Amino acid sequence: MGVLDGRVVIVTGGGRGLGRAHCLELARQGASVVVNDLGVGVRGESTDQSPAQEVVGEITAMGGSALADATSVTDWPGMEALVERTVERFGDLHAVVNNAGFLRDRILTAMSEDDFDAVIAVHLKGTFALTRHACTYWRDKVKSGAKVSGRVVSTTSGAGLFGNVGQTNYGSAKSAIATMMLITAMEMQRYGVTANAVSPIAATRMLASIGRTADQSGAWDRLDPANASPVVAWLCSEESGWMSGQVLRVDGNTVSRVKSWEVAEAYRSRSGEALTAEEVGTGIRKMMGALPRGLGA
Ligand SMILES: NC(=O)c1ccc[n+]([C@@H]2O[C@H](COP(=O)([O-])OP(=O)(O)OC[C@H]3O[C@@H](n4cnc5c(N)ncnc54)[C@H](O)[C@@H]3O)[C@@H](O)[C@H]2O)c1
Repeated sequence: MGVLDGRVVIVTGGGRGLGRAHCLELARQGASVVVNDLGVGVRGESTDQSPAQEVVGEITAMGGSALADATSVTDWPGMEALVERTVERFGDLHAVVNNAGFLRDRILTAMSEDDFDAVIAVHLKGTFALTRHACTYWRDKVKSGAKVSGRVVSTTSGAGLFGNVGQTNYGSAKSAIATMMLITAMEMQRYGVTANAVSPIAATRMLASIGRTADQSGAWDRLDPANASPVVAWLCSEESGWMSGQVLRVDGNTVSRVKSWEVAEAYRSRSGEALTAEEVGTGIRKMMGALPRGLGA
């Protein structure tokens, strides 16, 4: 008995790294898994092979059920067709895990338009495309009188939540994904659909591309991609239905809840009407305390 017995889940970018680990854990927990992966290089460059079929092979070898798919998450009709194909093959869809992506890190002043557009497209539009088509499927199901327990699990990151040098494109996309998840949670609550996000840390080829590698000592590895997968599996389960609109950061053996933007302090104008240009500087200084603070502290 697993926490996902009888459930059907699509995982994007499921052929490698975190996505592969999620697919294996979801299958272990009893889900039928659609392993989506376009099979691109670490900067999003084309390759001839999708690794999705290999992961399907691993799942079937352990007695699970899975389907490979090589559609790009940026392909709008392709994501709609993926939802349809999943329902045709497995009879339903219960969760989507938005995980596909790649990096094109550059310092702001050296970042090209293409580096920006490509990273925004794969992370932000890709997350929107599958989320939108899955949510439309669930809304239509509810309207036809059926009960739904849909789950959207999206992938944000420390760069999106706290910022990171060299990642204007990626951090902006990941931050927007956290907000998209929040709005999805608000809009889809009435249909029995939750939306949450995970912020993982793992030694995948993506992390290696910015200089971090796995622990080779044979000891339990804090950066093993599989560390985040039990949290993803639980978020896909029926049991997690009480929780929506949350960001869970998974670092090794620890899961933490990250709060969204909140108002820290305020200054009201002296007149009680609009602030004047003359009082803004002193007002903000007063509001933030005597010491100058920068960088969002
Ligand atoms: N590795 C980390 O520490 C870390 C930290 C925070 C967030 N993340 C996020 O986790 C997710 C997975 O990253 P990873 O480290 O496993 O990277 P990875 O490069 O190992 O895997 C990403 C997979 O996505 C696939 N992919 C890329 N573009 C695609 C597209 N258009 N359509 C379908 N598939 C596509 C790739 O082929 C690849 O197999 C990403 O969203 C990443 O931003 C990773």
